[in-house]
Amino acid sequence: MNARTLSSLLGLILAAFISHAVEPLRLAPQRSSPFDLEITGLASSDTTNGFVTRAQLLTLPLVTATNHLDPALKTSAIYRGIPLAQLAQFLPVIPDSDVVFAVCTDGYSAHFTRDYLEAFSPLLILEINGQGPEAWGRSLASGVDLAPFYIQSAAFTPRPDRTVAGLQEGLIYPYAVARIHFTTATRTLDLLAPPPDAPDLARDGFTLARRDCLSCHGHRDFGGMQSNRPWLLLRTWASNTNYFRRYVVKPKSVQPASRMPGFTHYNDEALDALQAYFKSWKPGK
Ligand code: HEC
Repeated sequence: MNARTLSSLLGLILAAFISHAVEPLRLAPQRSSPFDLEITGLASSDTTNGFVTRAQLLTLPLVTATNHLDPALKTSAIYRGIPLAQLAQFLPVIPDSDVVFAVCTDGYSAHFTRDYLEAFSPLLILEINGQGPEAWGRSLASGVDLAPFYIQSAAFTPRPDRTVAGLQEGLIYPYAVARIHFTTATRTLDLLAPPPDAPDLARDGFTLARRDCLSCHGHRDFGGMQSNRPWLLLRTWASNTNYFRRYVVKPKSVQPASRMPGFTHYNDEALDALQAYFKSWKPGK
């Protein structure tokens, strides 16, 4: 046996040992506190969801990271939490998850793809500056409570190759997170992809729509439910050029009572891309 085979054999033994050593946390069938975390995307088909307590999460291998400027708190913050990329290994969830949705108490739902998790190591935060969620207060940007769970990266620089229609990728930092859903791109994001023969413009539009719209405009059982206007409806609105473009940039100019935040930084190219995408998308079976 040469050195290479020996080392890969040792690697396999080590991997088997580690996967054995990790006992998944046991989920409770019911919520026992508003500070429990609901988990969906379970490996077992007997139940659809379960709950973990903060005390259970505090037993996991936690990391500490300092953010020099937290965008919700508008000051520096020391986080203690579990890297979101590692959470699945401690839970009885599907083994092949490559997309994680964080669902908030108000129906907002952010999602993290594997490449984002690897690039920015967001933490499921359990303590900020040594304090639990009762002490976190509200986001200074939106006025919404950060509790029960807050997901944030300590450092973020947009990746140059993710810029689309002149728009950089944004930091993803949901708060008021009450549920984490482990799923796969095949079961979610791929269902929203434009057809294979769609032009590049529509592909760019898909990137923007996935990044900027899905958190409030969901499809089937994933994405945000806050707007009560599903993905399919956006597709319909995209054919109404004037309404759609004005609504995206300045919703209140179309519906004075609209609760949607305006995408005032969207340029013509971004709007062209978004429209091209929604027009090209065909809902599958
Ligand atoms: C933070 C949540 C949020 C995000 C993000 C968001 N929307 Fe909305 N959107 C809403 C809400 C809420 C409404 C319903 C307006 C209301 O009555 O308050 C809405 C309504 C709309 C409507 C009008 C639908 C109608 O029935 O008249 C369009 C079109 C729309 N959104 C497009 C988009 C697009 C395109 C994006 C991404 C670029 C986007 N929205 C991102 C919350 C959001």
